[in-house]
Amino acid sequence: MKRHLIALAAALALSATAATAQTYPTRPITMIVPFAAGGPTDIIARLVGESMSKTLGQQIVVENVAGAGGTTGITRGAQSKPDGYTIMMGHMGTHGASPALYPNLKYDPNKDFEFIGLAGGTPIVIVAKKAFPAKDLKEFVAYIKTNEAKVNQAHAGVGSVSHTTCELLKAQTGAKSSAVPYRGTGPALNDMVGGQVDYMCDQIVNLVEQIKGGNIRAIAIATPERSPALPDVPTTKEAGLPEYQVSAWNGIFAPKGTPADITKALNAAYVKALDDAATRKRLLDLGTVIPDVAGRTPEALQKLVASEVARWKGILKPAEAAPAAPATAPAAPAAEKK
Ligand code: MLT
Repeated sequence: MKRHLIALAAALALSATAATAQTYPTRPITMIVPFAAGGPTDIIARLVGESMSKTLGQQIVVENVAGAGGTTGITRGAQSKPDGYTIMMGHMGTHGASPALYPNLKYDPNKDFEFIGLAGGTPIVIVAKKAFPAKDLKEFVAYIKTNEAKVNQAHAGVGSVSHTTCELLKAQTGAKSSAVPYRGTGPALNDMVGGQVDYMCDQIVNLVEQIKGGNIRAIAIATPERSPALPDVPTTKEAGLPEYQVSAWNGIFAPKGTPADITKALNAAYVKALDDAATRKRLLDLGTVIPDVAGRTPEALQKLVASEVARWKGILKPAEAAPAAPATAPAAPAAEKK
């Protein structure tokens, strides 16, 4: 009799799983973007989300929940019901640097998530307002050093990519300046275009159009090779600062406990998005590095997060939110082979 009941319970569990797989999703899915609209996280989320929506047959609705360098939105996402109807677009800051900077962080990037997939690598570009009086990286650094009191840098909050990567730059060049936190680099960029902010270290994605349009100046890109999206922008190596090599990344996460058949459906939709011609073109035009096939699995994202959390703990100290050790270059996620 007991064996009979166990078999019945197992059969019921199996059919419940199958039912979820067949029916999910039955309503719109919320994708939490932990920064303001118009920044790189928001742009990637909307592009990939739009394509995933077509595959899933339900809308992925972006909700911008900004604050505390992205940790406010990710905390909300991590604590959401793990039913597949709330997912998050995280990044190198929320799932890499933040544990080193926020001792009371309410989530553990390694333990509190299901990993859906790496949305893309995002090279860092040093950008300045159009009127910034420096024609290259050497002059840029020299100008900041002699005008420390009046130069201001924008970032998207402590722990954000634009914060940590500029901290690396300051540590490597000794060029200090005051910093102005924003709720995302979208609004920060608007103020740079308006001339209220002097410079920023930002993910390439929201910069390409403004650089090409001549609204801001690209000082250098922190990758070994020039980006096909910005072929005229010199690398930091060309510009005389080869040690400043830094690329960020964005990834899709679900709260821990989201059923496996749902995370599988989400991963399949995300992989399809990366293979969708229109989505790919847009991502590539914006300078995103699309992960190769091996880099698209949940395991690849999980491994990346583990290595990033460990790496940033060696670089950043909570008290000062500044590099503790000589800055090392983050390994950029592998790109697709040409
Ligand atoms: C960051 O600086 O961490 C992000 O680029 C912020 C954003 O996506 O707006």
